[in-house]
Amino acid sequence: MTYLMTHFLELARKRYSCRKYDTRPVEGEKLELILEAGRIAPSAVNFQPWHFYLFTAKDALDRLYGTYHREWFRTAPSVIVICGDHKESWKRRDGKDHCDIDVGITADHMTLQATALGLATCWICNFDPDKTRELLNLPEHLEPVVMLPVGYPLDEVDPDRHDSKRKPLTEIVTRLTS
Ligand SMILES: Cc1cc2nc3c(=O)[nH]c(=O)nc-3n(C[C@H](O)[C@H](O)[C@H](O)COP(=O)(O)O)c2cc1C
Repeated sequence: MTYLMTHFLELARKRYSCRKYDTRPVEGEKLELILEAGRIAPSAVNFQPWHFYLFTAKDALDRLYGTYHREWFRTAPSVIVICGDHKESWKRRDGKDHCDIDVGITADHMTLQATALGLATCWICNFDPDKTRELLNLPEHLEPVVMLPVGYPLDEVDPDRHDSKRKPLTEIVTRLTS
């Protein structure tokens, strides 16, 4: 049974939402690996409807912090803003736009790569979209969807969180046996 405990599950369990970062900068090579993990993510029809904005410069970060008013956000030494491109995303026959799904996958690739590098991240969607659009001077078809602060963590993680804060499989799986 132990062979089933893959490295992936260990990595996925290690990832958590970090809300306190060490202000020391993240090495450029590590940020490049995170962007690369995002680049190779799968997407509907391989359309790759995304664009990544990397913030590491103090001035630019200061402006970005104004789009999400949490003190802890200001501790992040780097932030990746992931935008979805609605002009490029796949739309199904019934019109369903798969942009958010694709952006979600690339974002999760990045969070897991960051975790594998000993870094921490946090999904942020509750930012001010209008302010962010203005800051990045985004055209209509590019939508800011997720912000990922990236840095070395300074907070404590609840080791039981996957037992205490996740629904059990019995609640979320229907097993069709015939
Ligand atoms: C789509 C999405 C949006 C989120 N937006 C925010 C956010 O705006 N601010 C925040 O502090 N956390 C945000 N989170 C983090 C969740 O609160 C967190 O993932 C969840 O509570 C589970 O905790 P964990 O990531 O530590 O496992 C978001 C997560 C997801 C997946």
